[in-house]
Amino acid sequence: LSEGLKKQGEKGAGFSRVHVIGAGVMGGDIAAWCAYRGMSVTLQDLDMARIGPALERAEKLFRKRYRKKREVDAAMLRLVADPEGKGAARADVIIEAVVEKLEVKQEIFREVERRLKPGAILATNTSSIELERIAEALEDRSRLIGLHFFNPVAQLPLVEVIRSQFNADEAIARGASFALAIGKSPVVVKSAPGFLVNRVLMPYMLGAVEQVERGESKELLDAAALAFGMPMGPIELMDTVGLDVGRSVAMELGHEVPAESRFARLVAEGRLGRKSGEGFYRWDKGRAVKGP
Ligand code: NAI
Repeated sequence: LSEGLKKQGEKGAGFSRVHVIGAGVMGGDIAAWCAYRGMSVTLQDLDMARIGPALERAEKLFRKRYRKKREVDAAMLRLVADPEGKGAARADVIIEAVVEKLEVKQEIFREVERRLKPGAILATNTSSIELERIAEALEDRSRLIGLHFFNPVAQLPLVEVIRSQFNADEAIARGASFALAIGKSPVVVKSAPGFLVNRVLMPYMLGAVEQVERGESKELLDAAALAFGMPMGPIELMDTVGLDVGRSVAMELGHEVPAESRFARLVAEGRLGRKSGEGFYRWDKGRAVKGP
């Protein structure tokens, strides 16, 4: 990134309001992170039951990162539940992070495009769907960029800024500049299945899942990855990502997940990992319960 762009990002570059659609694992944590970095954030979800826990996680983040109670309170005031999505019309940046389903995302963008402020950034956090396919739903396809955050959002600085064939330099530069404004490290990548990181990460995670399916101990595999220097083992990471999300990314990238595999069965049973309390591991208070 050019020095000019870096400076622009550091100064905030005119970004102050962010609207996040989807209050799940990613949307909730992206909203919290943006509020932590000083943005006014509105958080939308179909399901009010997802917004409450997202706000609780946000409060935890603020308590951990700020020293003073008044800073925590001020950040909580910057983060507002917005089930009807009213904030979209005023936002400088709109980030969609709903379920990984093309039609759902298209429907959201079709509706939101009508209400956008001129010049607002319109972004999706999709992990695997090509941007061009989502953009088909828009009147102006050049508006949609990808801002792909990584899980856990508060700990991982990387944001892939994804460029579709319809984007002009300006939209991508603004996306990167927003990522800098919230203290993240943007890398601009082309829209292709899995973008940059998931293309590499998914075969690694699936390789580990395959070993577990063959009877290898997940604890042993995860411990080996830690000893190798990874911050988290691949099975714990799959549980953290969410098994449903992991499976759709894997399939989008052309990997097979046989219906009779343990992985597919866990998804079918709603055992989705950390977010549902059980996946490959059982989860207690946000931690994987590991056996001997
Ligand atoms: P999630 O399942 O935790 O959350 C999805 C949320 O979308 C749910 O709260 C659901 O109620 C809401 N939703 C569904 N339809 C909606 C609609 N029409 N309007 C408003 N809200 C709606 O999923 P997660 O893991 O947060 O993933 C969200 C997106 O982020 C997906 O596109 C996924 O591929 C992507 N992603 C996921 C990562 C992960 O590690 N889980 C990492 C990076 C990207």
